[in-house]
Amino acid sequence: MEVLIRETSEQASLLGAQIVAQLLRRKPHCVLGLATGRTPLRLYDELIRLHRKEGLDLSGVVTFNLDEYVGLPADHSQSYHYYMAENLFRHINIRPEATHVPDGCATDLRAHCVEYEKAIVNAGGIDLQLLGIGSNGHIGFNEPSGSLRSRTWIKILSEKTLRDNAPHFDSPEQQPRHVITMGVGTILEARHCLVLACGSAKSHAVRAMIEGPVSAMCPASALQMHARTTVVLDRAAATRLDHPEHYEWIEKHKLDWQQYA
Ligand code: GLP
Repeated sequence: MEVLIRETSEQASLLGAQIVAQLLRRKPHCVLGLATGRTPLRLYDELIRLHRKEGLDLSGVVTFNLDEYVGLPADHSQSYHYYMAENLFRHINIRPEATHVPDGCATDLRAHCVEYEKAIVNAGGIDLQLLGIGSNGHIGFNEPSGSLRSRTWIKILSEKTLRDNAPHFDSPEQQPRHVITMGVGTILEARHCLVLACGSAKSHAVRAMIEGPVSAMCPASALQMHARTTVVLDRAAATRLDHPEHYEWIEKHKLDWQQYA
């Protein structure tokens, strides 16, 4: 894993945006895997700014989101369809038909999961998958103890994740307990995975992901088996790492062409 530590969440988010923008400039018809949650919001803001002020072109991009709540319609304020429209899609020049978010209201959810996998393959596979990490080590909505080879499917949220995400919902009854998520196996097929994690609440999960054993109890640790994963952290998220100076040494000695600047 490539681990890049920045002092603030602002700096970490801007570096994340730079990595995405670098791909967009190099490969305008790329396929992006996108994430939701609080963490990527600043990164998306920066992409919007780059689009408006520096002409970053997203007209050729195809996107696939990681996950969606079962039972929430696209116009529900807590659905990930709504999140993506509000926080990114409506501010950039992406073609609406090129954006994909799992449909949590599909009549046949299982068939929809299979179709979603096929659509990713038909688009040529994901070039860059953006990921956050849950405080329990989940990626997408792949909770601890799930298969590390899972594909897009319907999953049950853990009590920890329900508690973490409860503030987004008016009442516990409104919060779905089921989700559609790309599987860990789906995520591992992306050509490059970019994990962004900020804040001390993520520090345990971050340590387990980077330095812990590969274990289904921390689904993000499966990324240790991925050929190209970049983890961008702020200092607070990095506090529990045993070897921060090692990651900084590695970054300092990168060759010019390995830099993101
Ligand atoms: C959510 C999403 C994940 C996200 C994670 C962390 O529930 N399904 O894709 O990475 O949990 O969210 P946040 O960034 O809000 O901490």
